[in-house]
Amino acid sequence: MGILENKQRARLFYRYLSQVYDRINPFIWNEEMRDEAIEMLDIQPGDSVLDVGCGTGFATEGLIQQTDNVYGLDQSAHQLDKAYQKFGKRGPVKFHMGDAERLPFADDRFDIVWSSGSIEYWPNPVTALEELRRVGKPGGKVLVVGPDYPDSTLFQKAADAIMLFYDEAEADRMFREAGFEQFGHTIQQASPNSPRAITTLAHISEA
Ligand SMILES: C[S@@+](CC[C@H](N)C(=O)[O-])C[C@H]1O[C@@H](n2cnc3c(N)ncnc32)[C@H](O)[C@@H]1O
Repeated sequence: MGILENKQRARLFYRYLSQVYDRINPFIWNEEMRDEAIEMLDIQPGDSVLDVGCGTGFATEGLIQQTDNVYGLDQSAHQLDKAYQKFGKRGPVKFHMGDAERLPFADDRFDIVWSSGSIEYWPNPVTALEELRRVGKPGGKVLVVGPDYPDSTLFQKAADAIMLFYDEAEADRMFREAGFEQFGHTIQQASPNSPRAITTLAHISEA
């Protein structure tokens, strides 16, 4: 398990990274990629959307353009402070401090559950994916963006030491174990030399 796949360490890491996150982020996860992923969801006005690991609200900013019923959750007070600066603490986005592995929401609550760039820090990704499925409505959608496993052995070693990087086979395993039956992956990339993202769109069964 990578050094940052630990909730306390991830919180400490974001205490500092939150200061520069919005400046660094576009090199690996930019607006074009975010908007391409949002389009996959075909969000309707009025749909309820939960953004898990919303951080400074980068994806939230795209989601709120689709529907005014958006919730954001993060475990880092420092990241959430940055999000409050953009949206206000009690503005159009309903923010919650909490853990992806224990979401403070009832079953079948959201039409769409989104999470970008957060799964790599979750110590128990399958548990958290089960939570994303639990709070999503039957017939709803879950979209998760995570870091694709690098090709080179050298980068693989470094990646494994830091956090969760995963390929399509590993994504298949995690989503299946979390109870999803219907899902597919898309590889996204900011530029040819930048790290790839693996974006999984999963449908929550009606039954
Ligand atoms: C790379 S940022 C992604 C922020 C945003 N979603 C985006 O698209 O830019 C990862 C975020 O996941 C949050 N996070 C990590 N582990 C978490 C957990 N177990 N529960 C909730 N949030 C978590 C971190 O605090 C951080 O804000």
